[in-house]
Amino acid sequence: MTSPTASGAVAARVTTRIDDLVVGIREVIQRAQSPELTAHLVGELLAPVLGTADLLTAAQCEGDPDSYRQHLLHAEPDGSFSIVTLVWLPGQQTQIHDHVSWCVTGVHEGQERERRYRLTTDGRTSRLIPTEDVVNPTGAIAAFAPPGDIHRVRNSCSTKAISIHVYGADIARLGTSIRRIYRAPEGEQ
Ligand SMILES: [Fe+2]
Repeated sequence: MTSPTASGAVAARVTTRIDDLVVGIREVIQRAQSPELTAHLVGELLAPVLGTADLLTAAQCEGDPDSYRQHLLHAEPDGSFSIVTLVWLPGQQTQIHDHVSWCVTGVHEGQERERRYRLTTDGRTSRLIPTEDVVNPTGAIAAFAPPGDIHRVRNSCSTKAISIHVYGADIARLGTSIRRIYRAPEGEQ
């Protein structure tokens, strides 16, 4: 993902759990493996902390009535990875997008629904084909690396949803992990 409402380029104070996660991710990245394997290993680090009460501060759980909201938790000084949390109020969703880097997401609270797409072209025009609908409950991990990472995500529960996202990019500098926004197929909002 993400986000139209980045909370600023400077990461806020984080909890000990996030500090520990940063140390673990740094060790994974220093092994310099493929993007796919890096994302898989980062997912293994993220999974055990999802749903824990002391993962985020109260400020990092605040949403925005106008749009889903991004809070920057950590941006590695060398630009190799970043951690953000996304807070979604009921019904909020992303546009269809892909990403600038490998990405790992984990649902910390609530439930998110993800629709994945494939881009096809006949040489003159291209169009998106929905390929899969996935429901991600609290604790679910998704790890992926471009290409083939086109999707949209929405909060599909009646309460707030919060997810943790790790990107192999400097989100403090970029402001977003989105590489490109795609127009929704006919019939989709
Ligand atoms: Fe995304």
